[in-house]
Amino acid sequence: MDDYKKHTTKDGSLSLYSLSYEEGFHDKDGALRESINKYLLPAQLEEFYNAKKIVVLDVCMGLGYNTGCILEELLQRNIKIEWHGLEIDQKPLNLGLNEKIFQEIWSSKVLNFFNCLNISGKWTEGFNQGTIHWGDARQKIFEIQDSLRFDLILLDPFSPQKCPELWSEEFISLLTERLSTEGRLITYSTAASIRASFKRAGLNIYSIVPSTDDQRKWSSGTVAMKKKIEQQLIEKNCQIKELSTKEVEHLATRSSIPYRDPTGKGNSKEIISTREIEQSKSQLINTSSWRKRWNTAR
Ligand SMILES: C[S@@+](CC[C@H](N)C(=O)[O-])C[C@H]1O[C@@H](n2cnc3c(N)ncnc32)[C@H](O)[C@@H]1O
Repeated sequence: MDDYKKHTTKDGSLSLYSLSYEEGFHDKDGALRESINKYLLPAQLEEFYNAKKIVVLDVCMGLGYNTGCILEELLQRNIKIEWHGLEIDQKPLNLGLNEKIFQEIWSSKVLNFFNCLNISGKWTEGFNQGTIHWGDARQKIFEIQDSLRFDLILLDPFSPQKCPELWSEEFISLLTERLSTEGRLITYSTAASIRASFKRAGLNIYSIVPSTDDQRKWSSGTVAMKKKIEQQLIEKNCQIKELSTKEVEHLATRSSIPYRDPTGKGNSKEIISTREIEQSKSQLINTSSWRKRWNTAR
């Protein structure tokens, strides 16, 4: 069965639409552009350049844009890379690698990285190494050495309504345990449920500043960290900022009720309906009042 429809986004880069999830992989404005604005820039990679090694986890690698952008930068530096990827389906990467417009985006080194993963699931280049763990991220994460701590976690599942299992309080707590002290967990999601789960896991959260051509948006995503970021770094290049009052108030609404998956094996329907029941019984303020107060569209 053909599960994916290929299309070219506004910046000329290839993306996919998943027929089974009924959702696109990227913003229509640009697959590559989205990875740069929502993952590469908020990672502030220069903060890691003095370290001997950087450890990266890509959750839901898909076509691999988020990792691709980050590797393009890291491979030009004298820093050892250990990379792990979690992805249930190899087909997106395979489809990408068969398309000229995808191949042409990447340098030969990054293209080689993708080809190695596609062929053997492993990549080595000098001291650098990478492994893709094909399968359900909730189980496959346990294949990764328990003591390894990630400096960057790129979290990019389909939306919580389509793929709640990878946004659950339990999965977020697992990712948090694996995050290094200085590490950054980065996601495009601005959902109150996800941000509230990050907070309950003990993380400090920051909002990703929308790019200049996206100024109508109030946020382009979330960066979560164990450490508090110094003010000068927050202001630097204006890529991340403290949550606004509007965003903080969002966390006190019913939307902040988390997705729960205590067994790590729940299906999306069960997880969503459990949350809806919890929301209907909740004493928290209605999200519609918050929307009205801040004049925010759905
Ligand atoms: C929004 S797309 C990711 C886009 C990707 N980062 C890129 O640059 O193309 C979501 C991805 O999550 C994967 N996925 C869905 N459920 C999963 C699961 N339980 N475990 C791991 N990956 C999953 C899908 O196969 C899909 O590739």
